[in-house]
Amino acid sequence: MIQINNVCKSFLTPEGKLDVLKNVSLSIKDGSCMVIGGENGSGKSMLMSIIAGLEAADSGSVECGGKTGLVFQEAETQILGETPREDIAFGPKNLGLNKQQVAQAVEDALAKTGLAAKADAPSRFLSGGEKRRLAIACMIAMNLPVIILDEPYANLDYTGVKQVNALIKLLKADGKTILILTHEIEKCLGLADDFTVLFRGEIVFSGKPEDALQQNLEQWNIRNPLNSYRELKDLVWE
Ligand SMILES: Nc1ncnc2c1ncn2[C@@H]1O[C@H](COP(=O)(O)OP(=O)(O)OP(=O)(O)O)[C@@H](O)[C@H]1O
Ligand SMILES: [Mg+2]
Repeated sequence: MIQINNVCKSFLTPEGKLDVLKNVSLSIKDGSCMVIGGENGSGKSMLMSIIAGLEAADSGSVECGGKTGLVFQEAETQILGETPREDIAFGPKNLGLNKQQVAQAVEDALAKTGLAAKADAPSRFLSGGEKRRLAIACMIAMNLPVIILDEPYANLDYTGVKQVNALIKLLKADGKTILILTHEIEKCLGLADDFTVLFRGEIVFSGKPEDALQQNLEQWNIRNPLNSYRELKDLVWE
């Protein structure tokens, strides 16, 4: 469904040419869930912008078979409506659904994301986790075949992470093609069919999640999720 071929993107900065994406090629199968991991600045958000057509690649091509829904890293920036109900209705309205279909899609998305009680409260008063769920609710209501989530766990607590993962599972069960871009792979690798590591704009690993766990992930500045905590002295990242 998504085929990325030799995508390059660079910027001219005062310090010289910055290669943000270097010859990135990737394919994401219909109905699969791909996790792309990578440290801060590795090019994940840029890749999402190029897949979604928000940014143009300098060279290379992107083929995306279906309409793509995006959940941005800063979910609050994509909230436009005064209330969750209004916000969720935008997409289905724009897709040309009739009034009854829009109302049905909104109710369904509110219920699935646990936002029904906040449906008519001002969106700006929602918590960070609720705003993230609202952004996902908008995607659910549009019923798009491809959903890309950029850092869907940013700022979320344990419950927030579990709620987002429950929604990702729901989207998976619905047959959606899902792309998760995150540096927090320990929160979602178990949901992935395929896993890719971006490091300084390059793909350095692409394969099965179980095979990634056998790699030295630290060389790409990723903490191996299998490093467990057993006692107090383990409870510090250093
Ligand atoms: N418009 C731009 N001009 C110059 N550099 C840019 C521009 N947009 C992005 N970059 C650079 O591209 C690199 C990759 O940025 P990107 O936001 O894709 O990283 P990321 O992997 O999403 O990081 P994070 O985990 O922090 O969200 C960074 O070094 C960033 O500074
Ligand atoms: Mg990013």
